[in-house]
Amino acid sequence: AGTGCTRPLNSCLCPQQPKKKVTLYLLFCVSTAVIGSLQFGYNTGVINAPEQLRKFFQNVSMDRYGEPFSPGTTTMVWSFAVAIFSVGGMIGSFSVGTMVNTFGRRKSMLLSNILALIGGGLMGLSTLSQSFEMVIVGRLVIGIFCGLCTGLTPMYVGEISPTAVRGAFGTLHQLGVVIGILVAQIFGLEFLLGSDSLWPLLLALTIVPAILQSIMLPFCPESPRYLLIVLNQEEEARKALVRLRGSEDVSDDIQEMKEEGMKMALEKKVTVLEIFRSPNYRQPIIIAIILQLSQQLSGINAVFYYSTGIFQTAGVTQPIYATIGAGVVNTVFTVVSLFLVERAGRRTLHLIGLAGMAICALVMTISLSLKATPSLSYLAIVAVFGFVASFEMGPGPIPWFIVAELFSQGPRPAAMAISGCSNWTANFLVGLGFPKLEELCGPYVFLIFMVLLILFFIFTYLRVPETKGRTFDDIAQGFAASAGKSSPSTVPESLHLEHWKHDSVY
Ligand code: GLC
Repeated sequence: AGTGCTRPLNSCLCPQQPKKKVTLYLLFCVSTAVIGSLQFGYNTGVINAPEQLRKFFQNVSMDRYGEPFSPGTTTMVWSFAVAIFSVGGMIGSFSVGTMVNTFGRRKSMLLSNILALIGGGLMGLSTLSQSFEMVIVGRLVIGIFCGLCTGLTPMYVGEISPTAVRGAFGTLHQLGVVIGILVAQIFGLEFLLGSDSLWPLLLALTIVPAILQSIMLPFCPESPRYLLIVLNQEEEARKALVRLRGSEDVSDDIQEMKEEGMKMALEKKVTVLEIFRSPNYRQPIIIAIILQLSQQLSGINAVFYYSTGIFQTAGVTQPIYATIGAGVVNTVFTVVSLFLVERAGRRTLHLIGLAGMAICALVMTISLSLKATPSLSYLAIVAVFGFVASFEMGPGPIPWFIVAELFSQGPRPAAMAISGCSNWTANFLVGLGFPKLEELCGPYVFLIFMVLLILFFIFTYLRVPETKGRTFDDIAQGFAASAGKSSPSTVPESLHLEHWKHDSVY
C-alpha cells in the first residue's frame, strides 16, 4: 500500500524498502568496469593537442615528398584523424549486442582491451615509423574500443547493481568519463606530455588502463543476470550474487531474475530489427534514442572539443586554464549528480539539466556577441561552466545508464547497440559540423543548441518515465502495459501511467 504496487504481497517485487547493501567486492567489480569509461573519456579529451599532430603530419610529408603538406591538406588529414574516432565509436557501439550475446559481459570487456593495445601501440609508434597513417588507423581502432566501452560498462554495472543504487552506480560510468577527460586535459599540457616529442606517449598511455583492467577482470564474476536469464546457470548466478551482495540469502534477487527470465523465455535474444517491430519495445527505444541525442545535440562536445577557441573569442586571456576549469566543474557536478540521482530521480535531474543548459546557452550567446566589454569575458566563463555543470546533473550521466534500465534482459543488448550508435553518430556530426556552423552563425551558434535543448526538455517532460527504485521487469511491464499488451500479472495501465509521470511512487 502506498507504493503503487498492486501485486499480491508474496510476489511483489517492488523494492518497498530497497536493500542498499554495497559490499567492497561489488565496489571492486564496478570500479574494474568503470576503467572502460575512463578510457572513453581519456581518448575523447586527448585529441585537444592538435598542434603537435599537425607538425608531425608536416614532417612526414617533408620526409616522404620533400615538401610539407599545404595547410589545407594538413587540416584535412587532422580532421580525418579526429573524426575517424567517432566513426570507430559507431562501429564499436553497434557491435556491443552481438559481442555480449556471443561472449557474455565479462569476456567482452576483456577482449575489447586487445583493441586498446593495438590502437595505443599504433599511435605510440607512429613517430618512430614516420607514419601518419598509423595515427589515423590507431584512432579508428581506439574509437571502436571506446564504442564498445560505452555499451559494455553501463550494461555490466547496471546488471550487477542492486536496484536501490543502480542509478548512482550508473552515474559512475560518466564519472569515469569526466575524470578521463580531465586527466587527458592535464597530461596534454605542453610542459607535461603535450610536447613535440612526448605526444605519442600521451596517445599510447591508454594501454596502461587496458592492462590494469585485464588483470582485474578475472577477479570479477560474470553478470549474474546473464548467467541466470540467458545461460540458465542458476548455481553460478547464485554464487556470483552471494559474493556481490555479501550475503548467503540472495533469494530475492534470484526470484526477481527468474520472474524476468520467465517472461523473457520467448525472446532471449532480440535483434535490432525486432526492437523496432515489437510494439512493446517501440516506446522505450524511441525514448532511449532521443535521450542519447539530447546528450550530444545539447552541444556539450562543441564546448569540449572547441572550448579553448570559444574562450579566446570571448576575450579570456588564459583560455587553456579556463578549459581545464571546465573539466574540473564537469567532474565536480558529476559527483553532485551521483548523490542526487537516487533521491531526485532520473527524470527530474534530466529536466533540470536541460533547462540549465538552455539558459546558459543564451547567456553564452550574449557574452560572445558583446565580447568587446572585458567583464563579459568572465560572463562567458560563468556561462560555459554553468552549461557544463547543468550537463552533468542529468544529460551527461543519465542517457548512458537509463537504456540498460528501460529494457529487460532479452532486448537489452540490441537496445544498447542502437542507442549507443545514435549517440556516437550525433557526436560525430557535432564534431564535424560545429566549426562550419560557427563560421555561418558566428556568436549566435549556441542558439541552435538552445532551441534543441528546449525541444528535448518538452519530450522528456511528456514521455520519459521515472525508473528510480524499480526493477527491470517492472519497468518493462510498464511499457508493455502502455503498448496495450500487458501480461497477466501486470499492474493496471492507469497505475503505470502514474509511474511514468511521478517519481514519488516508491
Ligand atoms: C558524455 C558524452 C561525451 C562527452 C562527455 C563530457 O559522456 O557522451 O561525448 O564528451 O559526456 O563530459
